[in-house]
Amino acid sequence: MKNTEQNLHHILTTQRASLLSEWQKRVRRTSALQLREDFDGHTPDNVLEEFFDLIVKQITTKQDYHLLRQRIFSGEINAFTPDAACRLLIALKKTVLRRLKSFTHNAEAIFDEILLRISAYYHEMRYRNLAQRQSQNLRQRNIEIARLLAVEKQRAAHLTTNNRIAQMALSTLDPSEIFRRIVHEVQQSFNYQHVSLYFLETHANQMVMKARAGVYEKHFPEGYRQNVGEGIVGHVVASGNPIMANDVANDPRRIIAFPQEKNTRSELCVPIKTADRVLGALDVLSRKKNGFNWTDVQSLMVLTDQLAWVIHNAHLFQETRELQDELVQSERLAVIGEMSARIAHEIRNPLATIGGFARSLQRAPTPDRIDTASRIISCEVTRLEELLTDILNYTRPRKLELEPINLPDLITDVYHQVGEGLESRGITYRQNAPSDLPEIPLDPAQFKQVLINIFKNAFQAMPNGGKLHVHIRKKEDQPHIEIEIRDTGPGIPTEIQDEIFKPYFTTKTKGTGLGLVISKQIVERHGGTLSFTSHSGSGTTLSIHLPDLSSRKSL
Ligand SMILES: Nc1ncnc2c1ncn2[C@@H]1O[C@H](COP(=O)(O)OP(=O)(O)OP(=O)(O)O)[C@@H](O)[C@H]1O
Ligand SMILES: [Mg+2]
Repeated sequence: MKNTEQNLHHILTTQRASLLSEWQKRVRRTSALQLREDFDGHTPDNVLEEFFDLIVKQITTKQDYHLLRQRIFSGEINAFTPDAACRLLIALKKTVLRRLKSFTHNAEAIFDEILLRISAYYHEMRYRNLAQRQSQNLRQRNIEIARLLAVEKQRAAHLTTNNRIAQMALSTLDPSEIFRRIVHEVQQSFNYQHVSLYFLETHANQMVMKARAGVYEKHFPEGYRQNVGEGIVGHVVASGNPIMANDVANDPRRIIAFPQEKNTRSELCVPIKTADRVLGALDVLSRKKNGFNWTDVQSLMVLTDQLAWVIHNAHLFQETRELQDELVQSERLAVIGEMSARIAHEIRNPLATIGGFARSLQRAPTPDRIDTASRIISCEVTRLEELLTDILNYTRPRKLELEPINLPDLITDVYHQVGEGLESRGITYRQNAPSDLPEIPLDPAQFKQVLINIFKNAFQAMPNGGKLHVHIRKKEDQPHIEIEIRDTGPGIPTEIQDEIFKPYFTTKTKGTGLGLVISKQIVERHGGTLSFTSHSGSGTTLSIHLPDLSSRKSL
């Protein structure tokens, strides 16, 4: 302290004259602005310090001295407002003036000038600081806005990509094609250096790269594999948690598959998982250090959720397809098995008859035999032809060739064709039709087939005679025709009613079980319906409803 006092004394005595002239010079300047410029090279704190050093000697006790210095030059000086600085000076005015007067007669003017200078300086400083702070704030706000904008832009881009990927996921494309498109979409949308998609092979405890896009597309060999627990991808698949490695050069988990991979500085890997298991991982690379942020992580996690769905659906799709194939195969085999057994059974009898008569003709070709045999052979051949027609009709339905048909005439024709000699078996036939019935567009050959099948069934159901009634009705309010074919046979037992439209269902020894199936098929291809009502013991009614086909030429 002694030293300080000695120093101050020294300043006061040696520099007094020069300081005084300095102050006086400055006082002479009238413009505050001008005076402020004088501060160039000096901070006002220096000036104040000089000034207070000059007057401090006036402070008699050491405590006063310390207090003053402390208040002015240490902490408080920084918080000086012009008012505070001036108030301090005013508070010290008496002391200051007394001290100033000891070396100048112009003490009052100097004091005022000091006040003015301090006030002006601090005002300027205050505004300069304020402006500086504001521009700094503005800059910071701009930086923050730019950062937020970048984040939002990134988010929006991720969202758009995610939407596009969601659409892909819902598409019916082959799953491997979906995966290929997804990695390309992700790589291009976010300009990642490389993107790979790995699937876990649980049985081998390995991951297989299923799709990839980016700079290393050609470097990774087809079907590239990595062990679970090894490398960043392996760690992710093992733990089920994402890893953001923003400086891979210093990451011991990283595995380099080929030298070019050294160009990668950051790696982000996100698991693809369902509620209960990890299915694989999506791995993205960046050539920049700190190449990824949390928006990348979040977006990729949304994406991998969708991917989990794609994979799940793909598995389901695959399983369903395999199951379907198996079913179709077994159904087809069953149908072929049943069909061939029936066909074999059906053709065996006519063939045996034909063979028997042909052989008997070979042995003794008497005119009598020739006559009987040829008739029977021709009859059996017709049966075989019909059987073949039935099978072909069922397996390969023909295109309809519609033409206007007089329905009552067509039905009568069929009756004569099928019902030959039936009257002698005690079967009576009746047919009603409205007189104004228009011609109806039908495929005559195929529609005849329907009627033949139904008539045959009716005749076969009445081996001991009965009645066959055909009613044709035209509904005025609805544009369709109804044909009812009613027999007085035993009816169809309730327990088989659900079966009669199934292929190969028959209760007859010589039936193929295709008659009704084919008939239904043909009626439906005309846009109509075929149904029946039957009660055991009270006959059967087959009903054909045909829509108005007048506008159609062919189906
Ligand atoms: N009018 C009917 N009265 C009683 N049962 C009938 C009648 N029509 C059909 N059925 C029953 O429906 C079964 C299936 O008939 P469908 O015409 O499809 O085959 P099918 O007559 O047995 O053999 P086909 O191929 O020679 O016609 C018949 O076997 C028979 O049991
Ligand atoms: Mg039949």
